[in-house]
Amino acid sequence: MYKLLFGLLLYWFFVCSATAVASEESARPGTVTAKIVGGVESGQQDIPWQVYLNLTFPASDGGQSTFVCGGVAVSQDLVLTAAHCLQHGSVTVTADNVRVWGGIVSLFSANSRNAVAVTELVIHPSYNSAQFTNDIALLKLAEPLPEGAIPIRMADRATQDRVDNAFANSWVANGERPPNLLVSGWGSTDPQDSNSGSSTLRYTLLSGVPDRTCDAQWGANMNSGDYPIFLCAGSVAPDLARDSCFGDSGGPLVWQDPQAAGDADFGLRLVGLVSFGNGCAVTVPGVYTEVAEYQSWIDAQAGRTLRSQSTPVFSVNLLDGDIGNAGSGIAVTTPDSGDSGGSIGLWLLAGLLLMALWRCDL
Ligand code: ARG
Repeated sequence: MYKLLFGLLLYWFFVCSATAVASEESARPGTVTAKIVGGVESGQQDIPWQVYLNLTFPASDGGQSTFVCGGVAVSQDLVLTAAHCLQHGSVTVTADNVRVWGGIVSLFSANSRNAVAVTELVIHPSYNSAQFTNDIALLKLAEPLPEGAIPIRMADRATQDRVDNAFANSWVANGERPPNLLVSGWGSTDPQDSNSGSSTLRYTLLSGVPDRTCDAQWGANMNSGDYPIFLCAGSVAPDLARDSCFGDSGGPLVWQDPQAAGDADFGLRLVGLVSFGNGCAVTVPGVYTEVAEYQSWIDAQAGRTLRSQSTPVFSVNLLDGDIGNAGSGIAVTTPDSGDSGGSIGLWLLAGLLLMALWRCDL
């Protein structure tokens, strides 16, 4: 999944070729390139609730392996993430092996000095790793997140009911759908390559998929009867590949409440946490943990009512309009073209290697 098996190689790419890649993209504005999947780079103040997590697990060979995940600041000292980020098989990461960064966009600004430590992690007691149900966990931080991090409000059940209605009323099976959700992360930009994580935070706009439609598309009763705990989101058009992907897990899915659009936070509400998909950017929608369902559990863990916090002040509303051609998505690859997708990935890898060699003068 989001293993940093080629950590060294990746570091090499990022440090040595990031500039080269970025300038290449801007030099060809009309070209669509793979992002979060099918997204664009975030600006510094765009998604201040996004948090980056680094988790170190003991490896079977006696060493350690590091994983990355997204997270969401819901108060200055509380972060939500996916339970599956903290637990692999029978091993649960310990709090001292989790590091949290808030208020950053580039991973180059993440270092040991600005990492925030975790004092306690609480995995939802009903988390089921086989079914991926209740895939939610809370991190209690040792100190408040830095100023650049701004917590987001969560949707409550009444709001989520309106979310569900909005999805049901606006869904278009075979055409364009409204971009009513914002998802973000540093995860894979290429569905074929779990090591294609981004060094810059990326986002894309998605469209909410009605629970029943999602259930039918997943088949095998993925969430039959579990409509309150899962939220599904897919691309804004059948022929556009947009999705969250490996490494985005635990990160935020955000909806704008039209009833609160005039507020200082534009009515932006956390509705989901990236949980799972069938690969990335295929016809079945991505599945998210429906945060509203866990409101009382979260408040109980926090020891206070998080909704009574003052309204955050955001400076950017990414849900105001779509992200334009630059991030409109990459063409959906049919299963048949999977192989060529793979070799494109290889070529890309080779290209990046060359670029890294060139930039690093190695
Ligand atoms: N489970 C993945 C992770 O751990 C996230 C998958 C999201 N997939 C999707 N198609 N939306 O990072």
